Amino acid sequence: MKPEIIITGPIYPKTQEILEREFACHRLYEAPDRAAFLKALAPRVRGLATFGPWGADRALMDALPKLEIISNFGVGVDAIDVAAAKARGIIVTNTPDVLNDCVADTAIALVLNTLRRFPQAENYLRSGYWASRGAYPLTTAVWGKTMGILGLGRIGEAIARRAVALGMKIRYHNRSRKNVDYPYDPDPVTLAKKSDVLMVATPGGPETSRLVNAEVLDALGPEGYLVNISRGSVVDEPVLLAYLKAGKIAGAGLDVFDNEPNVNPEWFALENAVILPHVGSATVETRTAMGMLQIENLRLHFAGKPVKTPVT
Ligand code: 8YV
Repeated sequence: MKPEIIITGPIYPKTQEILEREFACHRLYEAPDRAAFLKALAPRVRGLATFGPWGADRALMDALPKLEIISNFGVGVDAIDVAAAKARGIIVTNTPDVLNDCVADTAIALVLNTLRRFPQAENYLRSGYWASRGAYPLTTAVWGKTMGILGLGRIGEAIARRAVALGMKIRYHNRSRKNVDYPYDPDPVTLAKKSDVLMVATPGGPETSRLVNAEVLDALGPEGYLVNISRGSVVDEPVLLAYLKAGKIAGAGLDVFDNEPNVNPEWFALENAVILPHVGSATVETRTAMGMLQIENLRLHFAGKPVKTPVT
């Protein structure tokens, strides 16, 4: 008998294909009546495969009393109520490490595109302005600038290595100091004050909610740039929008937003922001690896073995 699991939303198709082959899968997102669907499956479902934004809340766990494991496709578990899972003895797993390089590449692309304005320069050429208006205005160099990393975790360290190769200097702030050579700042305001580029790479969730607020952006200042590859929730988005419009910071590069995918349309017209639709880990190689790790955790659990990447 294959273990029965619920899939909360459509996952990367290659991953879903394997899940549906190896487990008895039930698609929550296709259920016409969610309550009836959960009630019917409650006595049998032991696993949940979920994807970043869909997560799993307390109510879902309450509806599934036989649930043993929640296996997330994604490193961020901010949409999963991990405390509620722990209280019920449910294991939560995520997909760390396999996405570090692609997310770090995205972070560096945002740094280059935000400071050097490559997308805007390309639009200038595509609009036919090169011939009619002359050369694109000068921008600012990346080399020699200081990147302050807010959240020097595994992804933050991969970003730091790349930034050093570009000739940038690195500093960081974490809740606690790490055993690294980069200078440490005791709080986000001090880090922002000493940085040209503030790189947000913390986890999301209540602990980091609106960590980048007006005070931090004031410290970053009119010559400073903000890049966020973490979660929209870490930045006070209305304040950031207002600061960019008023030139109170120089620019922003964002892969993440409040209320994805229904991003505030005010972003679309902002000339000093480079915006991406949450593509940090979105390559075939990385999404395949994330899916295989999600599946491996389920396989191990249902074989009675310890999972590979539990969220602690
Ligand atoms: C994905 C991510 O976009 O892993 C994460 O936490 O933000 C991204 O890799 C997505 O959340 C995968 O579920």
